[in-house]
Amino acid sequence: MGEIDPAFVQAPEHRPKLSVIEAEGIPVIDMSPLLSSDDAISNTDPSAIEELVRQVGSACKEWGFFQVINHGAPLESKQRIESVGKKFFAQNLEEKKKVRRDIVKVMGYYETEHTKNVRDWKEVFDFTMEEPTLIPASIDPDDKEITEWYNQWPEFPPEMRETFQEYAHHMEKLALKLMELIAMSLGLPPKQFHGFFKDQTSWIRLNYYPPCPNPDLVLGCGRHKDSGALTVLAQDEVPGLEVRRKSDGEWVLVKPLPDAYIINVGDVIQVWCNDAYESVEHRVMLSADKARLSYPFFLFPAHYTNVQPLEELTDEQNPPKYRPYNWGKFLATRKRSNFMKLDVENIQIHHFRINN
Ligand code: OGA
Ligand code: NI
Repeated sequence: MGEIDPAFVQAPEHRPKLSVIEAEGIPVIDMSPLLSSDDAISNTDPSAIEELVRQVGSACKEWGFFQVINHGAPLESKQRIESVGKKFFAQNLEEKKKVRRDIVKVMGYYETEHTKNVRDWKEVFDFTMEEPTLIPASIDPDDKEITEWYNQWPEFPPEMRETFQEYAHHMEKLALKLMELIAMSLGLPPKQFHGFFKDQTSWIRLNYYPPCPNPDLVLGCGRHKDSGALTVLAQDEVPGLEVRRKSDGEWVLVKPLPDAYIINVGDVIQVWCNDAYESVEHRVMLSADKARLSYPFFLFPAHYTNVQPLEELTDEQNPPKYRPYNWGKFLATRKRSNFMKLDVENIQIHHFRINN
């Protein structure tokens, strides 16, 4: 096994396959019909919007994943975050550990994450959109105390805070636009979901995947689903992200496109729409000789949101498939198990599924 620590080695059934499927990729959706107006979807040519909504709905249903182009988020902002991110990760460990996360300061830098005792081969830097972000202080459902999360910003690169906050602003705007299209695709008013994000708990993660001598045994990020509402992910030119195709369960590589964002439906949308759209598994393959950088924006609702199937999307024929769960408690539980490195399954939406 060479120099690989056994803690990184995936069980045989989860190992990367060397033959990568690229044939039928995830849909690429051109958002240019929205470019002419900054906010109001209603200002633009209705038939173009209708077609866009149809494409988004079909991609959410068939794949749970798609890429967007002509999305309105400036390329320079993405280039800046990429260049600053590279400078940050290129520092030695000691410097990076100055902003290391812990159980109190949950945002910042860390090296790898344990999932069921297997480690991801990566380094991470997390920061929240809102400063502070309000979140339950404990996972006890009866404890109503709220705590505040603050970001940790390093001294170097000095422009990191400003660059990242500017990028975050563009991501929020894009994510909310996409939520409007998703709402319309479900037959709902465009702004149906907006209220949930007023006091959002969203954050941005920078994933840095160093080259790995054994990319056939180890994953950069093990198979998982994203727990929030929507993820807007940018990746550099090094491929690695694989999506589990719904039609046959094969892992399909998401080809890097310059200036595109990769969008995926998270667990919260799955619950809100009562399984009309599903959150899809994905993972990250490593390269033997190239480092890779990716930076997802996780759109998360306010901590006080009780996540449950929307009344508008359920009826007697289609009764709610989930019991309500409190988003803040869910998130706090997730965070806690990250630090405990528990060898048990993390909290998941299927724990709230109604078996009828
Ligand atoms: C994640 C994730 C994919 C990637 O951080 O949740 O799925 O390409 N990342 O890094
Ligand atoms: Ni993910």
